Amino acid sequence: MNQRPRRNRLNPAIRGMIRESQVNPANLVWPAFVQEGKNLRSPIASMPGISRLSIDQLVADCQRAFDLGVPAVALFPALDESLKNSEGKESLNPNGLLQRAVKELKKTIPGMLVITDVALDPYSSDGHDGLVQDGKILNDETLPLLAGMAVAQAEAGADVVAPSDMMDGRIDAIRWALDEAGFEDVLICSYCAKYASAFYGPFRDALDSAPKEGDKKTYQMDPANAREAIREVMLDEEEGADWILIKPGLPYLDIIRLTREHTALPVAAYHVSGEYAMLKAAAEKGWLDYDSCLIESLLSMRRAGADMIFTYGAIDAASILHR
Ligand code: PBG
Repeated sequence: MNQRPRRNRLNPAIRGMIRESQVNPANLVWPAFVQEGKNLRSPIASMPGISRLSIDQLVADCQRAFDLGVPAVALFPALDESLKNSEGKESLNPNGLLQRAVKELKKTIPGMLVITDVALDPYSSDGHDGLVQDGKILNDETLPLLAGMAVAQAEAGADVVAPSDMMDGRIDAIRWALDEAGFEDVLICSYCAKYASAFYGPFRDALDSAPKEGDKKTYQMDPANAREAIREVMLDEEEGADWILIKPGLPYLDIIRLTREHTALPVAAYHVSGEYAMLKAAAEKGWLDYDSCLIESLLSMRRAGADMIFTYGAIDAASILHR
């Protein structure tokens, strides 16, 4: 035989020399849930190891993440039902929970990037990402609310706003509003191809944000479609997105690859709550090794073309990589 592929796998030095993809803490974003209170950590049953954190605890965990080399946190507020209404008004409150969390983080760990989620659902009594009228999710009427929310987050100090709502035209609306308010340096990470996925279940437990009626299929994408993702990427690029995010991660590696091939913008992948829950559940049963499977999952998304990865396992992964 003059062809022996195994020669390239002979020892760790050779394997290291030819390794094509790597997972580094520098490419990870840690999504975190914030709640009111002091010294509070409320575990989320369907996401072992993840809790809703009061701001002081959030800052402590972010410091830990940052010290391990994770440069960014993505924040999601868990609001009391009494603060939710059909227009998600609380999202504009300069002293609202999310805004206070952003301010505290930027004050304590100025070098850490703070990414905020733009969508109505954490604030909405309907549990939808846009305004609801007679069971319909309104598009154009939702845009000014999203733009206002993004500006409120930028005013609190957010470095990156991340619209996850999937309304048409929102990147354009948000970019204009940010620029007009003097925030031309705030980045937009567009949840560009976000699928109507059942893997978001544990996240909705965490925020108690499941739709009260209906589903999200008229705005989030059909899991059967790939070409539609290219269309979304092209539009978001034109509208001024800085980063393009694909979500979920592992079940959509083909979409990550396709996106990588159709844009010069940085591509992010979101390893979502259900993907994290699956790993944890199997590990709890002793059926999988969590550490190895986590790193392999992240590596697969990097190999598919993701520059950065949002993962609830960011702190775990960074500690594993430092070993
Ligand atoms: C909502 C939003 C969701 C996630 C991030 N932003 C859930 C949804 O669309 O219902 C899911 C993240 C995850 O599952 O980890 N705007």
